[in-house]
Amino acid sequence: MSDVLFTVTKENLETGMRGYPIGYCVTSFVDPKVGLHYAGVPIRELAFKKPEEVIFLLQNGYEGTRNEVDDLRAELKKRCCCSEEVIEGIYHFPKGKEPMKHLAMGILLLGIHHKSGEYREGALDLIAKIPHLTAAVINHYMGWGETPQPDPEMGYMESFIAMLNVPNKNPELLEPILTLFNILHYDHGGGNLSTFVGKATSSGLEDIYGSISAAMCALGGTRHGGANEDALNLVKSIVKSCGDEVTREGVQETLKEKVGKNELIFGFGHAVLRAEDPRATLFYEYVEKHFPNDPLVKAALLLREEGVKILMENPKISNPHPNIDAISGTALSVVGFGYPECFPLLFGLARVVGIAIQIVYERHEARGGKGVPIMRPVYFYRSRG
Ligand code: MLT
Repeated sequence: MSDVLFTVTKENLETGMRGYPIGYCVTSFVDPKVGLHYAGVPIRELAFKKPEEVIFLLQNGYEGTRNEVDDLRAELKKRCCCSEEVIEGIYHFPKGKEPMKHLAMGILLLGIHHKSGEYREGALDLIAKIPHLTAAVINHYMGWGETPQPDPEMGYMESFIAMLNVPNKNPELLEPILTLFNILHYDHGGGNLSTFVGKATSSGLEDIYGSISAAMCALGGTRHGGANEDALNLVKSIVKSCGDEVTREGVQETLKEKVGKNELIFGFGHAVLRAEDPRATLFYEYVEKHFPNDPLVKAALLLREEGVKILMENPKISNPHPNIDAISGTALSVVGFGYPECFPLLFGLARVVGIAIQIVYERHEARGGKGVPIMRPVYFYRSRG
């Protein structure tokens, strides 16, 4: 008899399958205490590498030699342009409404115009094209005009930033934070909602584009990809009530008031983590070093400490620590990307990488190459009468 991994009791039903083992993830894991690892390497050791190096690691499970990474870089550059039909199609989406649906629809357009039946090929193509596609979606959605073509001389994120028509752009400020954001969001284990939805959709043999488009809709929800907007609003509300001189007492008072009104303290807690998210720690360190006097940064840093204290008073809360959403929106805002409606798009741009690579594993490598069968869990019938 095989080992019992998990016991399902009635109490586990309707709990979002929290902790149920489903399969294997070959790209990353999340340790409750020390957080995210890509291919066994702690995220801190990868955070400031080149995006192409980290993508290679996720794809292959080992750090590539310079030649291997150069080959991947060349392959991504070769495939980086979306066709005119795709970009034109995006320009017909209704401006200013439902940005994640724009990304999901853009990926479907890619599937229609660039379709390839094979998951490995499709994954590489999508990872290569997603910066162009996302830049076009953001520029159109925000009314920032036409998107320039990708520059094949530039690196993966450098080229994305060059295509983004953000007003008063300062690429030197934007690049380190957008690249860090991108690398930290590539993957987060096998069971996060968007990844799970992408893999479930592909288990019916929908192609990579349809599967990832479904994943992007899952990411669009405020509990998943939209969470850092709420967290940024909390930081902003602290600055509003304290004024520019943000003090510890001011933060404590604002938090008490919110808890008194049963309002949520956004950006704290996580389904898996039981300590501060190391991705949050990396952002905190960066903004503390580079923007210590910015009122948003001051508020976010005080909130990091005071939020934990206040949440610890509630015995029902198993993780009172900040996750990446507590600080990523503040970090984006202080470098000139204060557009919360676009934050989930940046999350999507990154998470496509991990989901695509996980789908390739499930379709071509799992179960000795047979692939994971169509997903089909069971629900018990319950009469409502
Ligand atoms: C994350 O990046 O934190 C997630 O996708 C949420 C999760 O791991 O469930």
